[in-house]
Amino acid sequence: MKKRIFSGAQPTGNLHIGNYLGALKNWVALQKDYESFFCIVNLHAITVPQNPEVLRRKTLELARIYLASGIDPTHSVIFVQSDVPEHAELAWVLCCIARMGELERMTQFKDKSKGKGENVGTGIFVYPLLMASDILLYKTHLVPVGQDQKQHLELTRDLAERFNRDYGETFVIPEPYIPPVGSKIQSLQNPTKKMSKSDEDANGAIFLLDDADSIRKKIKKAVTDSGMEVKFDESRPAINNLLTIYRLVTNLPPEECEARFAGKGYGYFKTELAEAIIEFLKPFQQRAKSFKDEEIVEILKSGAEKAREIASQTLKEVYDKMGINR
Ligand code: TYM
Repeated sequence: MKKRIFSGAQPTGNLHIGNYLGALKNWVALQKDYESFFCIVNLHAITVPQNPEVLRRKTLELARIYLASGIDPTHSVIFVQSDVPEHAELAWVLCCIARMGELERMTQFKDKSKGKGENVGTGIFVYPLLMASDILLYKTHLVPVGQDQKQHLELTRDLAERFNRDYGETFVIPEPYIPPVGSKIQSLQNPTKKMSKSDEDANGAIFLLDDADSIRKKIKKAVTDSGMEVKFDESRPAINNLLTIYRLVTNLPPEECEARFAGKGYGYFKTELAEAIIEFLKPFQQRAKSFKDEEIVEILKSGAEKAREIASQTLKEVYDKMGINR
């Protein structure tokens, strides 16, 4: 039996090159070696207010992006979280297993609740439990994610261990898969902050569906550090980030990337980087156009059926162990 992968992304904002390089790219690379589940996590999206029409449209668009990235629906399961109600049900069970202190320690919660005081949404607080539910329902072995999800994965492991200890062996303890390069692509406007879908400054991110001109403009406006050399250097986070993107989109070894720009200034490097990103995204953007909405709806329907078969078995097992009939 193949081991299982589970991962997901929120259908909010626009997916950017950080989401691709940190997560989707690895889903595609790993999918054939595993039994793979890729989820569009629309229930996570509603932890902050969403426009219903936009959420509906973005949910389908994200499925399109998964397919365009190379997720193969004949092999991997692509589905929408709300189509499998067991996700919300197991999340409730996990609410009863987790402790306030554990959730209060989550750095993403701390960031998102800053300045909101008692007004912070409870959905944001329990968000990691829905994520743990996603993962544990499929008895997942490996979870390919970016660096920002590492702490949520650690919590998931703790909850699975606690449940197994208290109720008997049920869940697989999942391992994170965080790529050695690309797990934290930074904002083009502020290289100390991660590139983000919800960033108010759209110049901070290259979106996967951006056209060539926007990409050129955004790279041109990207902040740089003092100094002239185009080299990998952690102490110069702006150029380090841009060069990391160049490395990942060209697939060149790091020495070769540096050699190409030796003695050349930032202007030359930025032009080359913009063209490399445009070339990299071209086949993806063409594929994105090639799927019809009806075809995507069918893929999601059959994905939800396959996912539900497994999710309902796991939930039944959990309820049985807790003394709840289903
Ligand atoms: P989300 O939608 O914020 O992001 C999707 C994936 O992209 C990664 N990522 C990045 N990687 C590199 N550089 C960046 N700047 C960057 N920004 C985001 C994220 O780490 C993620 O892998 N809670 C999750 C979705 C989720 C999930 C799950 C993931 C829900 N349930 C179960 C795995 C397993 C989230 O909000 O991802």
